[in-house]
Amino acid sequence: IEKQDLIIEGKAKAVYNTTDPALVWVHNLDQATALNGKKKEAITNKAHYTNAISGLLFQYLAEQGIANHFVERLNDTDVLVKKLTMAKVEVVTRNYASGSFERKYAVPHLQELTPKVQEFYYKNDQLDDPSLNDSQILALGLASTSDIATFRSTALAVNEKLTALFAEIGIILVDFKVEYGYQADGSLLLADELSPDNMRLIDATTQVSLDKDVFRQGTGEITDVYEIVLSRLQHALHY
Ligand code: C5P
Repeated sequence: IEKQDLIIEGKAKAVYNTTDPALVWVHNLDQATALNGKKKEAITNKAHYTNAISGLLFQYLAEQGIANHFVERLNDTDVLVKKLTMAKVEVVTRNYASGSFERKYAVPHLQELTPKVQEFYYKNDQLDDPSLNDSQILALGLASTSDIATFRSTALAVNEKLTALFAEIGIILVDFKVEYGYQADGSLLLADELSPDNMRLIDATTQVSLDKDVFRQGTGEITDVYEIVLSRLQHALHY
């Protein structure tokens, strides 16, 4: 398979067409952003970690019966995935209070959330990704009622599988974001990326952050903590 023209370049990856019209080539970038792109830095080797961790997690989910866009890792920084029309809705699932939830509702850091909280955001950089509820999604024509049900149920299934996997390696999954894409028949498929760029992970013993919060807060090196996550995952999984 060969890489062709660039389709889109985002904050952390570039997506290319390939010689197979059903597949796209995703190149992870050695770049981190926070605050919707207002904080941006080049970080050597970051693409290696996001690509490796995301590949392992998507393969694990597929093995556990959660279909997703992953096809194969191409090299250290690149992955082949199914070509989809991405939904404009980002889905956040929270097990414990952190980040914007903790700030917005003034609840104690890492308070357990029962039920688990699910939130939707409009994927729109100009608008700073505003939050969305069900009726707003419908009125804006961003997705259907059954799509919204899938957004929630698939993210909850991912949460169960990843919470259990991370628990095995001494890591707590605090919260995470997923995205979906539409296949040619209109059905939704789990897509985008699953890495410490889009989830909060803390060490179960020390509660130190093993995710992009170290960059957001300037408390550590991204690649140091992503290496901990990757090496523990490699120990637990054998792909
Ligand atoms: O900032 P906030 O607390 O709302 O983030 C919740 C979760 O969603 C975090 O794991 C964060 O990394 C992820 N997220 C993301 N992309 C965004 C917003 C949040 O991956 N645009």
